[in-house]
Amino acid sequence: MRMVPFSVNELSVCILSTDTTSKIQEISEFLKCPINPPRPEDYFFHMHIEGTRFYVRDGEKRTLEIDFDKNHLDYQRKGHRGKNELIAKALGYSKGCRKVLDLSVGLGIDSVFLTQLGFQVMGVERSPLLFVLLQNAFSHSVKEELRSYQLFHDESLSFLKAQNGKVDIDAIYFDPMYPHKKKSALPKQEMVIFRDLVGSDDDAADVLREALSWPVRRVVVKRPLNAEELLPGVIHSFEGKVVRYDTYVVG
Ligand SMILES: C[S@@+](CC[C@H](N)C(=O)[O-])C[C@H]1O[C@@H](n2cnc3c(N)ncnc32)[C@H](O)[C@@H]1O
Repeated sequence: MRMVPFSVNELSVCILSTDTTSKIQEISEFLKCPINPPRPEDYFFHMHIEGTRFYVRDGEKRTLEIDFDKNHLDYQRKGHRGKNELIAKALGYSKGCRKVLDLSVGLGIDSVFLTQLGFQVMGVERSPLLFVLLQNAFSHSVKEELRSYQLFHDESLSFLKAQNGKVDIDAIYFDPMYPHKKKSALPKQEMVIFRDLVGSDDDAADVLREALSWPVRRVVVKRPLNAEELLPGVIHSFEGKVVRYDTYVVG
């Protein structure tokens, strides 16, 4: 039987690495987890660090790796429709909106795509493990457009409360986990490990309420096509085949 961690805060993780640099120590302090413990099998997640390659593995050898220069999670999207992509329309690209705050970076798939479309993005992620994977991926990517990406490890709600009026952005983007059967483009093993890592985003409505108090031109929430609105008040929905982008503020 698979043992699933009770909550994000009770993650059981250890680092497995042959490196002994101070960087590994820093990561171990950040994750509050041991390095190369005597019984790694007692830990639910193993964070493997091999040079610049970081990946997380669970007890069933499912692997999650974030590498923006590979295409395993669709980081090199080909043949996109530029400003005619639904996400670009929802965020107001053709109206001049360029600076976006992503409140749910996750695996960075949407954030990276937004930079590819020409947006300048800053993002917030609360999962410490994902943050470590993301930070490593951002710092090693060869993609020019990711150089200026600003990544924060925080709860989006706290970030929004603390930063209101202090950061210059045009639009806010939010893609919380949908509690039910959200169809996902992720390969299955990544989806399982990702869900175990982040749990459900039960504070999503509070985050959106706070986001709606910001002086921005757009607030956009990604939802499964047939899901209910996260909060009432959607002005326009940009609908794709599987997901839609609910726009709350159109300035
Ligand atoms: C559905 S995933 C987002 C996937 C992302 N859009 C992508 O393209 O990879 C939701 C992510 O947002 C993060 N998240 C959700 N609510 C958050 C919050 N209130 N504060 C910080 N991070 C949050 C979760 O930890 C999870 O990693």
